[in-house]
Amino acid sequence: MAETVLVTGGAGYIGSHTALALLEAGHDVVVVDNYVNAKPGALADVEDVTGRSITVVDGDARDRKLVEHTMRENGVTAVIHMAALKAVGESVEMPIEYYGNNLESAISTLDAMRAAGVWKFVFSSSATVYGDPESCPIPETASIGATNPYGMTKQMIEVILEDVAASDERWTITSLRYFNPIGAHESGRISEAPIGKPNNLMPMVMDVATGRRDKVMVFGNDWPTVDGTGVRDYIHVMDLVEGHVAALEAMSAQSGYEVYNLGQGRGTSVLELIKAVEDVTGLSIAYEITDRRAGDIAECVADPTRANTELGWKTRRSTADGCRDSWNSQNT
Ligand SMILES: NC(=O)c1ccc[n+]([C@@H]2O[C@H](COP(=O)([O-])OP(=O)(O)OC[C@H]3O[C@@H](n4cnc5c(N)ncnc54)[C@H](O)[C@@H]3O)[C@@H](O)[C@H]2O)c1
Repeated sequence: MAETVLVTGGAGYIGSHTALALLEAGHDVVVVDNYVNAKPGALADVEDVTGRSITVVDGDARDRKLVEHTMRENGVTAVIHMAALKAVGESVEMPIEYYGNNLESAISTLDAMRAAGVWKFVFSSSATVYGDPESCPIPETASIGATNPYGMTKQMIEVILEDVAASDERWTITSLRYFNPIGAHESGRISEAPIGKPNNLMPMVMDVATGRRDKVMVFGNDWPTVDGTGVRDYIHVMDLVEGHVAALEAMSAQSGYEVYNLGQGRGTSVLELIKAVEDVTGLSIAYEITDRRAGDIAECVADPTRANTELGWKTRRSTADGCRDSWNSQNT
């Protein structure tokens, strides 16, 4: 069934790719974004690449009336809620802003949905809810315990969603716990373009590759991992967003609350990622080993079995593909 999907935060990195995947799968897309971390141009490129148009509303997901009106006006049938502040380090310094924006936007969007009679909700959660995992790969049944305010906003919203789903059988709610998205659409037209200083590893590596910064800071080489640097599960953003389409399409046959990991199920260290970028670019990426960052963890790798079996979804792209497409998007 074709859905009309409101993507809150849809002008951002993952949101713009999600809009593209939804349009390509035959769904319609409406976006509400306040541009706190995005530039309006990203969605014009999505429209160009797909040949389809998107209804874009410049507004805040905390504005309940605006979100309700937007849903009614456009016949929205499902919501993917991505609007959030997402920098772990910044969240430690600005917990009021993080709890305020992330919790209020989720609750307000749910309230607007109930008022408009829209009951399908997909939530952008994060592997950060696992905190420092006891072992890897991590299944959805592993214990939860975020170690920073950003992760805690995701954990708290998951708790709220479970209660909301249990409160009324019309709700179908899915939390998707993303591991580490990298890469871009193969056209290279849609990229990760955070406003201000990047926080994630790949945008930092890209800044060095393009000469915008001198070196990548590597936080610790004494972790109990393959080469001492942190190991993460890098998932190509196109695989990630295809997971959203699969989750949305599975909802018609579901009810209640579901949680899925979206990851490759394969770990890559910081130094391996830098080497993979060197291989695809032919450039040398300077880096400096520095102290561990407070709150960091050695390893975080998904067990994606539940999404593989229940959603019929699998990653199709490698970490090297993600490096190539991140680089490609810098040069297009
Ligand atoms: N990128 C990652 O590594 C990662 C990992 C796990 C989870 N996530 C989650 O996925 C979602 C999307 O992440 P992203 O990487 O695309 O980040 P992003 O910053 O590129 O996108 C978030 C978008 O939300 C918008 N926004 C923020 N608050 C808003 C509000 N109150 N109202 C309207 N718009 C608002 C921003 O302008 C931005 O366009 C977020 O919820 C994030 O927490 C991201």
